Amino acid sequence: MMRILLVASSARGHAIADALMRSPQQPEIIAVTPARNPGIGALASSHTVLPLHDTEAIVHIAQDAAVDFAIIGPEDPLANGLADALQKRGIPSVAPLQSGARIESSKRFARDLMAKYDIGASPLYRTFTDANPDIIRHYIQHDLHGEYVVKFDALKGGKGVKVGGEHLDTVEDGVRYACDCIRECGAVVVEEKLQGVEFSLISFVSGTQVVHSPAVQDHKRAFTGDTGPNTGGMGTYSMPDHSLPFLDPQDMQSAKAINEQVAHALLAETGVPYRGFLYGGFMAVRDGIRVIEYNSRLGDPEALNILPLLTSDFAAVCNAIVAEELTEQLVTFAPKATVCLYVTPKSYPTAMKEKGAPVTFPTPNADGRIFFGDISQDDAGVLRLGRSRTAGIVGIGDTLEAARYTALSLCKAVDGPVRFREDIGSRELTDARCRTMRDLRRSAIVVTDHAESGTRDPAAAASCDAETSSK
Ligand code: AMP
Ligand code: GLY
Repeated sequence: MMRILLVASSARGHAIADALMRSPQQPEIIAVTPARNPGIGALASSHTVLPLHDTEAIVHIAQDAAVDFAIIGPEDPLANGLADALQKRGIPSVAPLQSGARIESSKRFARDLMAKYDIGASPLYRTFTDANPDIIRHYIQHDLHGEYVVKFDALKGGKGVKVGGEHLDTVEDGVRYACDCIRECGAVVVEEKLQGVEFSLISFVSGTQVVHSPAVQDHKRAFTGDTGPNTGGMGTYSMPDHSLPFLDPQDMQSAKAINEQVAHALLAETGVPYRGFLYGGFMAVRDGIRVIEYNSRLGDPEALNILPLLTSDFAAVCNAIVAEELTEQLVTFAPKATVCLYVTPKSYPTAMKEKGAPVTFPTPNADGRIFFGDISQDDAGVLRLGRSRTAGIVGIGDTLEAARYTALSLCKAVDGPVRFREDIGSRELTDARCRTMRDLRRSAIVVTDHAESGTRDPAAAASCDAETSSK
């Protein structure tokens, strides 16, 4: 029997366990999580709660259970070298070694790698290692014309990136934060602030073998209409054609090509094949697409959209990733739409005062999934809220509308002091994204027409609304 170590946390870990358990091979899951997760616990044959930085203890569990391979969900253990430690004891991982995980753990490494290997999808950027305010100010004012983003050069739980005009008001605020970053971690990346629409494309990678999953759009703002503070992600959607309404075929091709080039560059640079999930965070801009960031893992919520769509055997896919036998035929996704809505405590992400309150969930039908996040189960079997996102609720359907209807119906049937964003996957929101893209690209067409070197097809740029309605 196949035995798999799952090092995971929250709803993404539950979605991975669920995908594994749908395998006809019925693998045994040996789970290690930082807190007890009732979803993972119900599927795993053993479940140990450990801090995920306890590399030695995790390696012992893997050895004792004689696992075939490990799947590592979150970024911190990857940056700490958990995959390296397991490999030293002969256990391969569906996750990169520390050297490959730098694509996420160092913003500087990611940008420099793309520059070195001529992957021309970065905004204008520069790395500073000297906390000299005059030089940084000059770069922001003169090279970036005051439109800047400052990136801490190490993992910081999603809090290391500050965008001028959003998190930082003035150029001086940016300079100060950049100097703080240098003092704290030795380096900072300062880059051009891009305008456009963000999306994620996660690829399954084994060395130079790269297979793409459906593109997904995340919604980080806490409240309806993309307002309020940023969160870990309030929800996501994907489309039956595995593209997104505001992208044209050329954008999808570019995003796929960039992930492929980055996988090749990682092999050339580190000397070892990258094995695992490569998450490209992209922005569609006026003249194509750009890379915002890379992650060395499955996204959360993105994994909750992608994994339920997998029609092939996920355990076999993981096996092929570690064996470097990955093929497109092995990884197939249903041509369906998904909408994932995160249910959170009512006062999330600020007060989280509902911690400990009981919550109950409806039973999903075949088109729905519920993946548990920050939730605990007491001795009487009662589920209780934590402080963070409670559960990712996914609807799957032939159309985006059908998927959203299922997700919304399930969310509305959750009983407890919780909330969720009702607008994710709505026609109103996807049309707004399309309008943004069309307006940006119309202005690009005007510019290129003047230069007599049109690079985009005006019809493609203008076809967004029609596309949304037909899907
Ligand atoms: P990251 O951790 O690099 O994904 O950055 C977090 C968020 O900051 C992204 O999801 C974007 O919304 C924003 N961001 C990062 N880099 C840029 C950029 N160059 N231009 C505009 N927004 C950015
Ligand atoms: N969805 C954003 C992330 O997983 O980092």
